[in-house]
Parts: sequence; C-alpha cells; structure tokens
Amino acid sequence: MVVDAYAQLVAEGFLVVRAGSGTVVRDVARPPSRPSVSAPSGRVEAPPYDIDLRPGLPDLASFPRAVWLAATRDVLRLLPDEELGYVAPWGALALREELADYLKRVRAAMVEPDHLVIVTGATQGLTLLVRMLAETGHTILAVESPSNASQRRVLGRHISHILDVPVDDEGLVVTELERTACRAVLVTPSHQYPSGVMLSPARRSELVRWAQRVDGVILEDDYAPEFRFERGPIGCLQGLDPQHVALVGSASKSLAPGLRLGWVVAPLVWHEMLLAAKRDDDFGSPVLSQHVLARLLANGAYDRHIRRTRRRYMERRNALVTALAEELPDWEMSGRGGGLHVMLRLPAGVDEERVCAAAADRGLAVQGARAMYGSLPAPHSLIASYARAPAGVLTEAVHRLAAASTSVRTATTGSNDPAIRRVRPATALDYF
Ligand SMILES: Cc1ncc(COP(=O)(O)O)c(C=O)c1O
Repeated sequence: MVVDAYAQLVAEGFLVVRAGSGTVVRDVARPPSRPSVSAPSGRVEAPPYDIDLRPGLPDLASFPRAVWLAATRDVLRLLPDEELGYVAPWGALALREELADYLKRVRAAMVEPDHLVIVTGATQGLTLLVRMLAETGHTILAVESPSNASQRRVLGRHISHILDVPVDDEGLVVTELERTACRAVLVTPSHQYPSGVMLSPARRSELVRWAQRVDGVILEDDYAPEFRFERGPIGCLQGLDPQHVALVGSASKSLAPGLRLGWVVAPLVWHEMLLAAKRDDDFGSPVLSQHVLARLLANGAYDRHIRRTRRRYMERRNALVTALAEELPDWEMSGRGGGLHVMLRLPAGVDEERVCAAAADRGLAVQGARAMYGSLPAPHSLIASYARAPAGVLTEAVHRLAAASTSVRTATTGSNDPAIRRVRPATALDYF
C-alpha cells in the first residue's frame, strides 16, 4: 500500500525519483514540468495562448444545460422501452416531425418527416451524400474557395476530385462553375464559410438553373443559418428546388458539436439510397439525444435558446467590430452580418503565417485562411471568431492582434523568423 502511495505521488509529480539518491520531495513552489512532447522536426513549440479566436465552436458556456437536463429526465421517464432498441436508422420519428416543422418555419425548406434522415452532424450527412455521388458515377465535387479545410479533406476521401470554384462578394461565382464538367457542388449559401458572404438572390437562381440544366445536385451546408443580426435569415436554397438540392443541417453551432446531431433532406430520387447508406454506416444515431432535441423543439426551448445566443453573439460581434475599426482600420472585414466569426483580409506587408505566429507569441490564437482556398490563390487573411469571448476579452484580443501586426510589419527575417513557428496542438481545434 505504501508502495502504491509512493507510485501515485511520483505519477502526480510531488515526488521525484533520482537514480542513486532515492526519492525526494519536489520543490512545490515550482509546478512539475510538463512531460516534454517531442516536436515534429522543423517545428518550434509556441507558448500556450489564453485567448482563442479560432472558428469552429459556438459558445459552449451557453449550452442550455438546465433545459437539456429537464428534457432528458422527461425522456427517460416517458420513453417506451422499445425506443431503446435498434430503431429506424434514419432517426426517431419524434425528432423528424419536430425538425420538419422547424425547417419549414425557419428555413422555408420543403420537407416532410419521412424525408428527413438524422445523422451524427453535417460531416456524416455530407459524407454519405458524397459517397452516393461517387457510387452513381460522379467523379468531381466542386467546392467553394475558400471553404472549410477539414471538410475538403474528409470529402476528398470519397470522391476522385475536389474542384475549387471562387467566391466573390455575392457568393459562389456560378459562371466559373458553368465552365467545368462538374455536376455536383457543395455550397454554404446562408453564410459562406468562411467569408460570411450571403449568396445573392441572383446567384441563387443562377445556381439552381445550373443544377437543372446539367441534371446536377447542390449540397447545401446550412451550418449556422439562425445567427443573422441585422435582418432575419433568408430561406434555404432547398426550398427553391428540392429535386436538385440536398439540405444538410446540424446542431453543432446552435447547441454544441459534442452532441453530434445533424440532419439531411435529400432529393426524393436519392432518398432510399440515403436511408440504406445511413443504415449501413452505423445502424442509426444515438436515440436519447434525438428525443431530447425533439422536446426542446416542441416546447419552444430551442427557439428561446437561439434568441438568447443570437443576442449574445451580436453583442460580441459589435465589440470585435468596434475594436477592429479602432485599432486595425486597414484590415478589410467580411461576414459581419451573421455567423460566429468575421474574416479579415490583411493589408499588404502583413503576412498571414507571421501574424498568426506573432499573435500566438502574445497568447492569442487566430486562424489563417490559406488552407481554405485549396488550389486557388489565397489572399493573406485571418478568421476571428467572437463566439466564445466576452466583449472585454475581444477588445484585448484586438489589441494583441494590432501589436502582432506592428511587429510583423517591422520584423526582419532571420533564423528567429516567427513564420517558422507553429502552434503546438493544444485543444481539439488544432486537430481539424
Ligand atoms: C462549414 C461548416 N459546416 C458544418 C459544420 C458542422 O459540422 P458538424 O455538424 O459535423 O459538426 C462546420 C463546423 O465547424 C462548418 O465549419
């Protein structure tokens, strides 16, 4: 027992075993050093950061724990035993009914409960769709440039070619898409990721006409449509032409990505294939959380949560935009109208990698956008999320960003060039 206690104290770093001189108590004033992680060659460990503006997460502290708990209790009390078995792989009927109502009401989608498939997030939804594309002879998937880099990686595993199509201030440039032989495209019309541009009404009709002409398919990633600040969300593309648009949605931004809850409405001709694909992938998504979300949708708690978080995000967005206008007026901003982040085009002389590294040196994590452009030219840009930081923290973040920018503009290159510095994986965001 004593030996076990010693082993535990050594493991926790309170005792140190020294070969030849026994076991001594560590100087507790000094915290035990972290186990050294051997950095991959060419990488220098960067200091940890205390402000993280990288995109990808909503404000997890706003997760409606109390209502989720209450709904979970109700579900556990009331759910018939059979519902805990292998149920319909395309999802619990209770959730499909509530979601169909919600998507019709809030997204102007054309959807009935029987046409919805519940998945473990937009990523699974898109993966199943792209696999179906490949199985039916598609070899190319067009994606927006810029777009989510991890999505490109994931979807690139399931289709031969990913083709980059540029985005301008009206969204995807449909005339560029028309020049290709491609018949399938992935778009983010409600809030282009990451530029935040909304697909203009003219482009919406152009895109739908393109899909009809080539008998193609549009995969609509409707990833954070509720968070628009100045005007309400505009309807989804799927509502314009449900036979050519597959709508993919997710609770990852509205609630939390850890739920792994999403949904797909595919064109009817694909529906049976999609059901089979979902069934053969995992026999269905976890059922308890589906019933909990169904209750939140039914009793209005989901709408209240959206309204509350939208207000919070708008305040944070305002704080970030104000601070940026004051401290970095020559950084061109896009996407301030909605979503959970803004995109910042860097002025000449401010290198994206260097400014990220200089910000990391100041304890601030921001995301460079280069990897999001695929094969097309990438202007130096950053993505800064305001979702998780209160206003005061955002002001401090911009202050550090301005200092990082100044240091980059004045820096001379050399062996200490911060551009060779990389942020060591520290949180789950580093792995995406
Ligand atoms: C463009 C885009 N779509 C969808 C998602 C959500 O994916 P999932 O529902 O698999 O968590 C994200 C998450 O960051 C995203 O950036």
